[in-house]
Order: sequence, then structure tokens, then C-alpha cells
Amino acid sequence: MGKINVLEHPLIQHKISLMRDKNTGSKEFRELTAEVALLMTYEATRRLPLKEVEIETPVAIARTNIITGRKVALIPILRAGLGMVEGAVSLIPAAKVGHVGICRNSDRDNHKSGCVDEYYCKLPFDIKERDVIVMDLMLASGNSASAAISKVKETGAMSIKFISVIACPEGVRKLQEEHPDIEVYTGALDEGLNDDLYIVPGFGDGGDRIFGTK
Ligand code: URA
Repeated sequence: MGKINVLEHPLIQHKISLMRDKNTGSKEFRELTAEVALLMTYEATRRLPLKEVEIETPVAIARTNIITGRKVALIPILRAGLGMVEGAVSLIPAAKVGHVGICRNSDRDNHKSGCVDEYYCKLPFDIKERDVIVMDLMLASGNSASAAISKVKETGAMSIKFISVIACPEGVRKLQEEHPDIEVYTGALDEGLNDDLYIVPGFGDGGDRIFGTK
């Protein structure tokens, strides 16, 4: 069963509270998204392997650690996941960034039964050799996240994590059923979905809040 990590760092909690406020405008919401994404990426990369090397300081030879092995690929789910890229890339500038575009199926009943439409997919050619972090602002029904992870798995990539600023039990359950090998990182596990499939209490439409489209 994939582990669920609810990140309780005070900075993450504080910034998510500001994001929840309906009076927070899109400029601030976007900045907060980037900051939370940076902190979450820090947590999600906690176990990257290290190797010891010798470095000559101005004073002496230091035996010290550097990250070894696989490089990182960041895969935001369009569109709200895009808001998380800036923060993650500021921490891992050498990361490659792929994109998966997934939208709710226009047929609402299909959506409830798990159908989504993929309209775009461009992944790094060497993704199989990378540690992959799939990211979306919210883990709601889990349909988009599950479909995006399936696309990444089709490439043969084995090391995949999923991060979302907030999540709810429905989405977590979906990922645990369909991708039990994936570790999930989130800043909050909310109550659940309402009839319009919004996370409660959540922070409304994540894409609209980041891009100011409403
Ligand atoms: N997508 C959103 O933008 N908001 C939600 O609450 C759920 C899914």
C-alpha cells in the first residue's frame, strides 16, 4: 500500500491556510503555491541517495556528500499542477519537466466512474532513468492523478512519487487502489468531495485561483 505523507511542517500549514482564504488574490495564491511546492519537493526528495566524495576546501580536504544516481523529472498535471513547477525547479534546477494534460470527461457520470480525457502528453525521453515526481495542486477524485501516473508508468519509469498541496480521502483511496506502489505527499487531508466534486473545505478551483481566470 502506497504510503501517505501528510506534511505537518508549520511553514507548509501556514501557507496552505493563506491559500484557503477566499480573499487571497491570484498573485499571492500563485506565490504561495510555488513556496509550498518548494517545501513539498524538499520533503519528497529526503531519501535521494548520497555518495561520499573528497572536496578541497580553502582549509583542508573534506569528506562530504553529494547526491548520486538518478536525476529528477517533474511532471505537472495541466493546468493547476503548472503552478507548482517554479517552486520545485528552484530547488532542483537540473530537473527535466514533462507535462500531462488531463481534463474531466465532459460526461459527468463518466467522470464519476473514473473517465478522464488526456489531451496532451510530453515526457522527458530519459524519464525511465529518473526519479519522477508527478504533481498537481489538488488530489480530488484521483482520476487525473491516476491517469497521469499510468502514462508515466507506460514509459517504464519505476520510481514515481505524487505530490499535491491538498488531498481528500476519495483521491487517496483511488491512488491506493490503482497505484499501490506510489508514495503520496500532501500538505492536508481534507474532509472529502462535495456534489460538484470540489474538495471541502479545499480552496475552490485551483486553476482559476492560480491563473486568475475567474
Ligand atoms: N479541482 C479543483 O480545482 N478544485 C477542487 O476542489 C477539486 C478539483
